[in-house]
Amino acid sequence: MEWVEVKNYEEMSRLAADLFEQQLSAKKDSVLGLATGNSPLGVYEELIRRTAEGRISFAEATSYNLDEYVGLGAKDETSYHYYMHDTLFSKIDMPLSRAHVPNGEAADLAKECSEYEAAIAASGGLDLQLLGIGVNGHIGFNEPGTSFDSLTHVVKLTESTRNKNSEHFPDGEVPEKALTAGLQTIMNAKKIIMLIFGEEKAEAYERLRSGEVTEDFPASVLHLHGNVTVFYGK
Ligand code: GLP
Repeated sequence: MEWVEVKNYEEMSRLAADLFEQQLSAKKDSVLGLATGNSPLGVYEELIRRTAEGRISFAEATSYNLDEYVGLGAKDETSYHYYMHDTLFSKIDMPLSRAHVPNGEAADLAKECSEYEAAIAASGGLDLQLLGIGVNGHIGFNEPGTSFDSLTHVVKLTESTRNKNSEHFPDGEVPEKALTAGLQTIMNAKKIIMLIFGEEKAEAYERLRSGEVTEDFPASVLHLHGNVTVFYGK
């Protein structure tokens, strides 16, 4: 893994956006894996700015988000659909028909998962996957104990993740389940960028840096991937 220490959040966002810019310059129809949370907000701002400046274009790109809460849809302000539309999709030139987020309102969730996985494969697989990290080492919503072989699946969220994410829910009611791309889905990406920023992530950073590979710490699967850049800082 390549480890890049950053001076501040702005630098991390710029450097990660540079990798997106390189990816889109090399392949206009790139397939991008996108993430939610606070960590990628600065990267998305950079990508929006660079799109407005004409430096990059998403006109031929496709994206797949990592996850979505079960029961929430595009109209729910706390859904990841809403977050992605509000934060990025409405501000770049990627056709919405190619901006994918798992459907948390699907009647048949297992079918939604297998179709989502198949759609990623049919697009040619992910060229570049952006990741944040949970304080317990989760990536996407792959909680500790998730099999490294997992594909897109339904998860029961841990209490710690629900407590942490409750800051985004005005009523404090965080859904109990989510759909997430699996650890194998993530590992199938050709290149992976991980963002680890802030004091609250220091422990997760140390554990990842230790090199230990265990399903108890989902992000550690990344040690088995040949092309990962980790940006970290406080
Ligand atoms: C959520 C998301 C993850 C994200 C994590 C960390 O649980 N499902 O994909 O990486 O939160 O979020 P943040 O970047 O806000 O710390």
